[in-house]
Amino acid sequence: MLVGDLMNTKQREVCESQGLDPNRIPSHVAIIMDGNGRWAEERGESRVFGHMHGVDAVRSSVQAAMELGVRHLTLYAFSTENWSRPKEEVEALMNLLVDTLVKEMNELGNKGVRLRTIGDVGALPKNCQAQLDEAEASTESNESLDLILALSYSSKWEMVQAIKKIIDSGVSSADISAETVSEYLSTRGIPDPELMIRTSGEHRISNFLLWQLAYAEFHFTSTLWPDFGKENFFNAIRDFQNRERRFGGLLDTNHNVTVQ
Ligand code: IPE
Ligand code: IPE
Ligand code: MG
Repeated sequence: MLVGDLMNTKQREVCESQGLDPNRIPSHVAIIMDGNGRWAEERGESRVFGHMHGVDAVRSSVQAAMELGVRHLTLYAFSTENWSRPKEEVEALMNLLVDTLVKEMNELGNKGVRLRTIGDVGALPKNCQAQLDEAEASTESNESLDLILALSYSSKWEMVQAIKKIIDSGVSSADISAETVSEYLSTRGIPDPELMIRTSGEHRISNFLLWQLAYAEFHFTSTLWPDFGKENFFNAIRDFQNRERRFGGLLDTNHNVTVQ
């Protein structure tokens, strides 16, 4: 789904000022926020310093998404594999998550942001879980932007969970379709991302939304995550709008996918 029809005047104005087509704003953007450590190392600082500055880029991306009327923004904040990092770094990341939620959630909630999570959230420290629960409950009825944090997330973990639940539900194999699988993933009810952005020059998806990104456009930028600002977000959308999305079909003269 694209969001043009649901847009307000302000969002249309921002699109216009950025040279973006309001009718082709993706409804769901997913971001692999990478490069915090290298950003800090370039400055002779500890990796945690980079993570702290990464919060600024989260703020900018949320703002940019809201200005354009993007409905869902999924941020890869901590992967299952990230548990293998030094204990101090993991602890610092968890504390940063709690501090950021405490500081920012009121304002985000007032702006209409709904916080959601995907991943093995039960593996996070109890104080993080409590803070997340509170933020999710207090923003549950907000509708401007779904901010979806992928925490202790990996796509293979998510798929294994889905397979287990499908089997436990007793559904017959004849009744299992792609839609069934989507229903059992933690992204249930959320449309698949049309655009995936990865910062820091790495060209891989590191176990992120393998199922959901099946037909997403990928935008890779060498910008390190703490330097990623609103302009970078707008650039990614511009890049997206220059793609021809064929979904395996062919385009007619109006650049629409032809359906027989
Ligand atoms: C991304 O930055 C943040 C997390 C994975 C939590 P990195 O910490 O991976 O930074 P680099 O890739 O080492 O520079
Ligand atoms: C992916 O980044 C995970 C997050 C951004 C949370 P990583 O830095 O952990 O991934 P690799 O190690 O480069 O694949
Ligand atoms: Mg990294």
